[in-house]
Amino acid sequence: TKDLNGVGQVVLRNPQGASAQVSLHGGQVTSWRNEHGEELLFTSSKAIFKPPKAMRGGIPICFPQFGNCGSLELHGFARNKLWAIDDNPPVLRPNDSQGKSFVDLLLKPSEEDLKFWPHSFEFRLRVSLAMNGDLTLISRVRNVNGKMFSFSFAYHTYFLVSDISEVRIEGLETCDYLDNLCHRERFTEQGDALTFESEVDRLYLSSRKVIAVLDHEKKQTYVIRKEGLPDVVVWNPWEKKSKSMVDFGDEEYKQMLCVDAAAIEKPITLKPGEEWTGRLQLSVVPSSFCSEN
Ligand code: BG6
Repeated sequence: TKDLNGVGQVVLRNPQGASAQVSLHGGQVTSWRNEHGEELLFTSSKAIFKPPKAMRGGIPICFPQFGNCGSLELHGFARNKLWAIDDNPPVLRPNDSQGKSFVDLLLKPSEEDLKFWPHSFEFRLRVSLAMNGDLTLISRVRNVNGKMFSFSFAYHTYFLVSDISEVRIEGLETCDYLDNLCHRERFTEQGDALTFESEVDRLYLSSRKVIAVLDHEKKQTYVIRKEGLPDVVVWNPWEKKSKSMVDFGDEEYKQMLCVDAAAIEKPITLKPGEEWTGRLQLSVVPSSFCSEN
């Protein structure tokens, strides 16, 4: 572990030299590097690494609300809280620890949080780095309350790309989506793959479990595998919106693409004692590995 602005950062490494960094602020993954030390996640050059806000980049956790569809702050409070290291993590599938470097984090609501969202929960997050460099995030939310509650969730993943105009997403074909830029109007994706030439802010509904983000210039593909997370958010702010964000460079939209594994359209409901699990596994492979190429 190390310290940044008084906040602990956990560094995971594998024997091949890949690494990941997780901040206790927000339980946010702030870096993921391959075995050559090359960064795979976007972080803005203007990112602010000081609490109370989530820094612009990496993988902020949106919980218990996504966006502004609710009474809470944008994307919920989890990304703005200080998480603890979980010294007594639950037993997961054997496969979730074997040969992996991992950290377990825990978020519980404070008295103050309960005023805004009166539901007692325990949120356990495991971030692990495998021998092959894959990064896995497992979120488990348990209702430790006397009454039922509902929430939405997203792993707001900022992928680093060479040039947004050279990138396409495969796996969302024929999916319905809600377009945030068109007052949440519902459309059906028509094309073979998604490409980018203007601002995009969409919620794809009930997509398949594997999505690929192909970067032509780098000849590299990010493979997103998700469980318990039916939806996918795709976001790029493009030119105009970039200029309105203080912690984002005017031209940086060209180097990033958010593709979030999420559960938004149908919120997750937990009865007392129930638990929900949402998994995200990220891999990076040469594009020639993909049949689509
Ligand atoms: C995206 C939303 O996921 O996150 C956008 O769909 C939003 O509408 C963006 O602008 C960034 O949010 P924030 O709070 O990190 O600036």
